[in-house]
Amino acid sequence: MLKFENVSLKYGSFLALEKVSLHADKGELVVLLGANGAGKSSLFLTASGIHQAAGGSITWEGKELVGSKPSTIVQSGVVQCPEGRKLFPQMTVQKNLELGAYVHRRDAGPSQQILEEVFALFPILRDKKDDPAGSLSGGQQQMVAIGRAMMGRPKVLLLDEPSLGLAPLVIKQMFEVIQRINQSGTTVLLAEQNAFAALKIAHRAYVLENGHIVREGKPDELLADDSIRKAYIGA
Ligand SMILES: Nc1ncnc2c1ncn2[C@@H]1O[C@H](COP(=O)(O)OP(=O)(O)OP(=O)(O)O)[C@@H](O)[C@H]1O
Ligand SMILES: [Mg+2]
Repeated sequence: MLKFENVSLKYGSFLALEKVSLHADKGELVVLLGANGAGKSSLFLTASGIHQAAGGSITWEGKELVGSKPSTIVQSGVVQCPEGRKLFPQMTVQKNLELGAYVHRRDAGPSQQILEEVFALFPILRDKKDDPAGSLSGGQQQMVAIGRAMMGRPKVLLLDEPSLGLAPLVIKQMFEVIQRINQSGTTVLLAEQNAFAALKIAHRAYVLENGHIVREGKPDELLADDSIRKAYIGA
């Protein structure tokens, strides 16, 4: 289980997360809804060890992540696919993917096979493997970002707004792939503004507002809730 307990985060004097508690059971696909600035990315960056929590605990399979180095956190199986993709645009697609395996360089054996799995999941990336990542379409770049995270051998994948800026058809395909990754055994925590599509594939969801969890529930419950529909679905 990935478990956040009373996690707080400050940027200077600004409290971006206040005592956030949530969890994702092994094998679950959990969605984190929240408007711009709610704190979704802050929560992921704290779990990844990029930001230091001001209080609270984040554990994966009982192991404390707060205070661990980002590389140690990835090695333990908690891997983030960051908002905005963060690719190296001049480098080839394959090199970008291989970077995801850097933390496993002392145990590089499985990486070639995982690269094959990424190409099986996203066949277009095999065709484009020698092209600069920056020459790909937005959707293809998001595939590279997810593929790079998979090269980190995630047991839990933290996906930060994978549908941002993509066309509707591409978004649909992206969510299908995320569901497939989850069904193959990877626990997924998905931050999304595209609430409807995200809830369609989720097992459970939380709503984050101004650094607080204000709601938790099954997708059906949230989809049936007028205030949630108004705020996050626009219907
Ligand atoms: N490095 C930073 N320094 C100071 N404030 C920050 C920093 N990063 C984020 N914030 C602030 O913290 C709050 C939460 O931001 P965060 O990026 O976590 O929200 P988000 O839910 O991911 O939003 P979005 O949907 O726009 O990605 C916002 O008020 C934001 O302005
Ligand atoms: Mg964000």
